[in-house]
Amino acid sequence: EGSHRLMRAVSDVEVNEPHAKITIVGVGQVGMAAAFSITTQGLASELALVDVVADKLKGEMMDLQHGLAFLKPTRIRADTDYAISKGSVICVVTAGVRQKEGESRRNLVQRNVEIFKKIIPQLVKYSPNTILLIVSNPVDILAYVAWKISGLPKHRVIGSGTMLDSSRMRFLLSERFQIAPQNCHGYILGEHGDSSVAVWSGVNVAGTHLKDICPKAGEKDDPENWEQIHQDVINSAYEIIRLKGYTSWAIGTMVASLCSAILRNQRLVYALSTLATGFHGIDQEVYLSLPCVIGEHGITHILNQNITDAEKEKLCQGANDLRSIIDGIKF
Ligand code: NAI
Ligand code: 2OP
Repeated sequence: EGSHRLMRAVSDVEVNEPHAKITIVGVGQVGMAAAFSITTQGLASELALVDVVADKLKGEMMDLQHGLAFLKPTRIRADTDYAISKGSVICVVTAGVRQKEGESRRNLVQRNVEIFKKIIPQLVKYSPNTILLIVSNPVDILAYVAWKISGLPKHRVIGSGTMLDSSRMRFLLSERFQIAPQNCHGYILGEHGDSSVAVWSGVNVAGTHLKDICPKAGEKDDPENWEQIHQDVINSAYEIIRLKGYTSWAIGTMVASLCSAILRNQRLVYALSTLATGFHGIDQEVYLSLPCVIGEHGITHILNQNITDAEKEKLCQGANDLRSIIDGIKF
């Protein structure tokens, strides 16, 4: 309105055609932490928000929009209708129930599967070439369910997986070493959460392996009890939920990093939930986290990580557990 008095069109092209468009489904604590991180980093040319609660959705959209004068240009829109998501390069799904204090992620499964049955077909309908980034819990099972429902190739359906657990581990290592988390390397693999597998054999700073200076690291009889770090990672979500009710900032930051890796084809290596069949002796059809290379096509490679037999065994056990949960759900 009124723009024709401000400027004169010299072409008839559609000026609002989306380019680096991201949709976030679920404008709860996680969805909005991700939206805020994406917006402050100027990653998306367009950010579409979708939720079932229309008032909250509009309020969150307006609140974000009102900061735009101080940010890089981003078009922010919101609607309960999935048509708003049309042409998204990435669709992030953070919708669904979260854990109550003391509740496990696995306990959410059937309720969130029901929600996914409604969400995923709509996303694929409007963005048939999208990359689905699943965050809702239990993330490994829901990423698998999203892959099945969507019909998209497996490299385009990704769960945030143990990227968060690995990041928590790197922070805790950094506190113990008194070295920046960016320089403390280590991976947690497998199921996001309770049955995750810490790869102690790979933990290193500048190529110096913890196992070389502390051979018992991660083992039961380790006098320095490094495994406590893994236990603290497992307990992190439970503790944060007890303290503040939900977790949001760390996962929001990670979603933005994943969006950046995809939109800018950065080929970064993260522990992400992907179809793991055939790796480390896993013979089940399950999604769980392995170190993956991520770029504009999604996950293109999985690292052949040198892990111990005990670590392999734990991964396979986790895969069996996840598979039996998948076999018990209806979708
Ligand atoms: P929340 O309750 O704050 O937000 C959930 C949102 O989903 C609400 O706005 C709700 O209206 C919306 N929603 C519900 N049904 C919907 C539907 N059918 N379509 C569209 N939107 C719908 O929850 P929060 O804290 O944001 O957590 C969201 C999910 O993310 C939970 O499952 C939680 O466990 C998970 N999570 C996963 C993490 C990970 O590392 N993978 C980290 C933190 C949370
Ligand atoms: C987290 O680990 C609850 O999965 C969520 O923060």
